[in-house]
Formats: sequence, structure tokens, C-alpha cells
Amino acid sequence: MRPMNSQNRIYCDYNATSPVAPNVLEGLSLGEWPLGNPSSVHATGKKARRGLNEVRQFLYQTFGVKEQDFQLFFHSGATEGINSLIKGLALKVTKEKKSLGFFTFESDHSCLVNQQDFLETLGHQFSSVKVKRDGAFDLEDLKEKMASDNSEVKLLNWTWVNNETGIINPLSGLEGLKKELGDAVLFHVDAVQAPGKIPNWNELSTAADAYTFSGHKFGALKGSGFSFLKESLHPMALLNGGGQQSGLRSGTENTWSILSLKLALEYLIKNYNFEKQNQATRFLEEKILKLVGDRGEVIGLENPHRNGNTIDLLLYGIKAHTSAMVFDMGSIDLSNGSACSSGAVVPSRVLLAMGYSEDEAKSALRFSFSPYFTKEEATELWPKIESILNRLFS
Ligand SMILES: Cc1ncc(COP(=O)(O)O)c(C=O)c1O
Repeated sequence: MRPMNSQNRIYCDYNATSPVAPNVLEGLSLGEWPLGNPSSVHATGKKARRGLNEVRQFLYQTFGVKEQDFQLFFHSGATEGINSLIKGLALKVTKEKKSLGFFTFESDHSCLVNQQDFLETLGHQFSSVKVKRDGAFDLEDLKEKMASDNSEVKLLNWTWVNNETGIINPLSGLEGLKKELGDAVLFHVDAVQAPGKIPNWNELSTAADAYTFSGHKFGALKGSGFSFLKESLHPMALLNGGGQQSGLRSGTENTWSILSLKLALEYLIKNYNFEKQNQATRFLEEKILKLVGDRGEVIGLENPHRNGNTIDLLLYGIKAHTSAMVFDMGSIDLSNGSACSSGAVVPSRVLLAMGYSEDEAKSALRFSFSPYFTKEEATELWPKIESILNRLFS
């Protein structure tokens, strides 16, 4: 097993964050990246500006969207990007003396689910929409909630791939919904967990009005992210200042992190093979399922839309903070779906939304593997997981 970091640990938490791509590290070590402020008029500043423009062009090309359709803005990551979009739209709608209805699914990331207070403080509507037992969005519940909300502007968040379960809600579902609901509803796609986890991660649908990505999830430096947005979703800026990025997000651009976005995606395009990754993950999953038997289950097995790197495992009756600690002591980094708050274990909000019991939702462990995970690595890893699971069951 290839050690994933200098402490010789086995890193299985790629949905949380990823190691920096080798070509990013190499670029940094060469010391040739532009040092200038991209807004400066001298040659050093212009070099930095050219670098940013190259990244822009590359992102449009890589994601197959046109500059005339989508504006692109860089930010520090998805939490900032999503907050800018939602809060910026809410402020714009407030200024226009209209009302906003925001719809988010119960399984969405907390940077979406936690918008309620802000929106309601401004007098807007917030709706939390159900998800099904297999992680698919409950579109009937969504339509009912939309019908009973008479806000003038409506925005829906569509999380493409769930970070906890790895369940995909394909963009074809969004396209169907957009046809039904019409242009009156704006769609934002949380695309954070798509690159390096599903085969068509860079095929964006123009039916959506905005997309948000986060660099640290695919090998770029932390503190880097970007959103594409259509004119229809042109929010007010949250950060005011020098007017950078067409006034959408003031502040000197985080040049090196932005440059790393291009390199990390180039590395992904060259090296990512979904079939290989999926084969390795499913190989390990089968072994786990066989050993666990009726003492647990893997979430979302019945859903045909699963990503290639995630195994969300319930071990009935074993609290995840205990099992995650045992894996930790065995040098395997993974995530527990439940969170710890003031010493108490809080069950996974996502699993509760899917209809799992509190006890079940407190027992979830998430393995999430590299885009370059291979069956050889999975074969080498299995005996380590097997011995830890046996210890947990003994
Ligand atoms: C689906 C999803 N959306 C949003 C975020 C927030 O991303 P960031 O860490 O870049 O703020 C995450 C991070 O885990 C995520 O998985």
C-alpha cells in the first residue's frame, strides 16, 4: 500500500480533502510562479494577470461552458462560493423589494442547510426538501413545497454527488425538472464532489444557472475554488473593496491557489480512470460486506447512481467515534458520518434524512478513496481493514 503521507498512514478520506497533486507540488518547488499582484500595471503584475486569464480559459474549456453564458469567479472554496451566491442573491432580491424562496435538500452540505437564519432574518423563505431512503431527491416533496411558496424569485440547490454517501443525483434529473418548472426557478449545482469521483465530472448542463467547485477536493491548494454563474443569477457582491473580478469578489486574487486549480485538473484529466477506481472500491466493498454480514450494511447499495470512491458503512451497535478511533490507531484515516459536539455524539444528519434510526446514524464510517485507487492497492489494504473489523466485532 502506497503510504499517502509522511507519517506512513493510509489516507481514506478523499471526500474531506485531497493531497496536493504531484504537478502542483513540483510547480511550487520550482519557485517560478508569479509573485505580482494581478491588478498591478507593471510587468510582474501583468504576468500574474496572464496566469489567471490562462486558468480562466482553461476552466471554460475543461467544463465545456461558454464565457458568454457563464461568468466565472474565483473564491476560497465552496463554503465561500455558495454563501456569496445565496446571500448575494438574497441581498439583491431584498434591494429590489422582492421575496426569495430558497430550496435545499435535507442531505445537502451544511453550507447550504445553514442558510436558514440569514434568509429568514431578511424575510425570505427557506425550505428543506426530503430525500428518499436510497439518497435520491424527493422531487414530489420539492414540487409541493415550491407550489406552496409564492416568492417572486426561487433558487434550488442541486447537490450533484453527496459527500457522505457518494450517491449521485444526475444532472439529467435537474434538466427534467428545469423543463417542468421553467426559467422562473434558478438552479445552483453543488459540484464539489464530482471531480475525480464520477465519470462525467466535467460535463456541465447548461440547464443549471450556477455551479460551484472547490480546489482542495481535487488536488489543488486549499483556499481555492470557483463558481460559474449565468447572468440570471448575478448576485450582489458580499466582499466590497477594490472591485476585482468585475466587482463580484473584491480582494487581491489568491494567485498561486488559482494557478494550482489548472494544474490539479490537468493531472486529473490525464490520470483519472473511473472504471479502475470503481472496480477497486467495489472489490473492497464486497469483501467488507461479506465479513460484516448482518452486523451492518453499506448505504445506498440499491441506488444505481453511486460514485466510484465512497463506501458509507454502518456497523450496527458500534458507535462511529469508537470504530473510527480503532481505524485511526491502525493507521487508517477515515471519517465518521456522525459529529461530536460538546462530547456528545450527534448522529449523521444525512442518514437521519434518509430515514435511518439515530443509532444507525451514529454508527456510520466513511471510506473515500483517491481518484487513482487501484485494485492492487485495495487488495493490499483489505487485510488491514479485515483485522480491524474483526477486532471491532470481537
Ligand atoms: C458537497 C459539498 N459541498 C460543499 C462543501 C464545502 O466545501 P469547502 O470545504 O470548499 O468550503 C463540501 C466540503 O466538504 C462538500 O462536500
